[in-house]
Amino acid sequence: MVVTSAPGKVILLGEHAVVFGRPAIALAIGLRSRCRAQIIDDHIGSVDRIGVQHGSYISTAIHCSWDGGPLDIEIQSQLPSGSGLGSSAAVTVATLGAIASLKGEFDEETIARQAFEVESVVQGRASPIDTSVSAHGKGIFISSERGSDLLWHISKDTRNWYIHDCEVPDMTLVVGFTGNKAPTGPLVAKVKRYVDHTRFAREIIDEIGDITLEGLQRMRSGDVEGLGRLMNRNHGLLAILGVCTPPLQKLVDAALPHSYGAKLTGAGGGGSMIALTDAPEKVAEAIKGRGGIPFIVGTGVEGVKVEE
Ligand code: MEV
Repeated sequence: MVVTSAPGKVILLGEHAVVFGRPAIALAIGLRSRCRAQIIDDHIGSVDRIGVQHGSYISTAIHCSWDGGPLDIEIQSQLPSGSGLGSSAAVTVATLGAIASLKGEFDEETIARQAFEVESVVQGRASPIDTSVSAHGKGIFISSERGSDLLWHISKDTRNWYIHDCEVPDMTLVVGFTGNKAPTGPLVAKVKRYVDHTRFAREIIDEIGDITLEGLQRMRSGDVEGLGRLMNRNHGLLAILGVCTPPLQKLVDAALPHSYGAKLTGAGGGGSMIALTDAPEKVAEAIKGRGGIPFIVGTGVEGVKVEE
């Protein structure tokens, strides 16, 4: 029997634009999904204890990476599904990690590659950002160009992503979950239609990419005020792309008076927002006061791992 776990994530800057090959920054957070897996020796079949939300990710992960006997898989997750916090990536990565460990082939990069394939099959169009940060942990910077601290390179159709380790300073983020679940696939498809049909949307995608590059510099120099301003601009552009909702905007507005910056995180359409702040308790209170579910999260979290 093996137990693995993998973290969820927040996207600091660059969601949606990353699907089109633009840069993005993602940070692993201390909410994890756990997978317990064991080979069972009868042929009655595996026991399905998986919530229906993640069933297709788990069955696809097993299909892609396992050809041994029947498996008994049990998943527990601290990440609400459809929250924009990478719950499906964390479940997929933890499951692939458990299978890799059963095979004696546990390797972060292989798990990240397989997990991206699984997400692409189940979700449709996607980038490898959620799956790569869940596998690697800490922080990643994704770009269409190779830079220093390269972890791995993933390509699909004409798109290329170079995934880099990204040093993350100590920062406190508060996540605010609206409680509204929003599956990523349809939101990515909606933005793609907009980008395919209007030059304006393509310019927004480019501008988000530029904001992310500037944000990387601000993060490296520890300029939290500058980073916060860029988060606010990124949020405004995501709203123009049509992925913000009134409940998300309410939580962003509640957080802003006590924050350097705030924005929706992940696919939007519901899901969660994040605020960068030195006053996490105040922000959490403000989010709760507007009906959101706050989580105070630190940075520097480990990626996929086998539990003791
Ligand atoms: C989802 O966490 C982030 C999106 O950019 C989709 C993706 O990159 O696959 C919206």
